[in-house]
Amino acid sequence: MELDPDQLNTRTMYEWMIHSILPRPIAWVSTVSVSGIANLAPFSFFQGVCARPPTLMFCPVNHRDGSPKDTLRNVEATGEFVVNTVSATDAEAMNATSAMLGFEESEFERFGVTAVPSSMVRPPRVASASVAFECRLDRIIRVSEGPAGGNIVLGRIVRMHVADAVIGAGGYPDPDKLDLVGRMGGTDYLRTRDRFSIDRPV
Ligand SMILES: Cc1cc2nc3c(=O)[nH]c(=O)nc-3n(C[C@H](O)[C@H](O)[C@H](O)COP(=O)(O)O)c2cc1C
Repeated sequence: MELDPDQLNTRTMYEWMIHSILPRPIAWVSTVSVSGIANLAPFSFFQGVCARPPTLMFCPVNHRDGSPKDTLRNVEATGEFVVNTVSATDAEAMNATSAMLGFEESEFERFGVTAVPSSMVRPPRVASASVAFECRLDRIIRVSEGPAGGNIVLGRIVRMHVADAVIGAGGYPDPDKLDLVGRMGGTDYLRTRDRFSIDRPV
């Protein structure tokens, strides 16, 4: 089977991508508006970029009417955000926060997600997240404008919080203790429990 993106509508192309780019980590992104309302939403077009300087990225696409999502609005206006990880016990809450609330309403309050103050940035972090990356905006790359238009948000990690309880024998987070979830296609998720190792070539 061979697909020509030019022959597919945006929705169908999106479905092919999310059913093929698997599994995807989830950035649970907290931001604040200029007036101080805390926002929280998940993004699975998310990755680390490099460690010098420590940088990560996530991709909020525009709404169908071409307007930016609240997260992007806040990041543009304030230059700060926090990426929280999502453990299996937070999966339902994470999913709830993907609801489209009004700009003036906080997902933290609406869905009872406990926030704790960050150290370096204004947006709070999620108290139950095993790992949280406090970030300052590096740049936004606009891939396309209008409906479903793409935006790449690059953030400089200025502080990391790691729950002591997830640290493993090697001094870094233990995947079993983290028990993070990843997103598959549609409404499917997975847990990071099925693993194997392969030595790298010299
Ligand atoms: C697991 C999951 C992953 C998602 N990933 C993305 C994504 O990568 N990009 C995106 O624009 N929306 C994504 N969404 C949808 C947003 O979370 C949703 O549009 C949300 O309402 C945006 O909130 P905001 O307007 O407060 O920023 C995802 C939703 C879920 C449940």
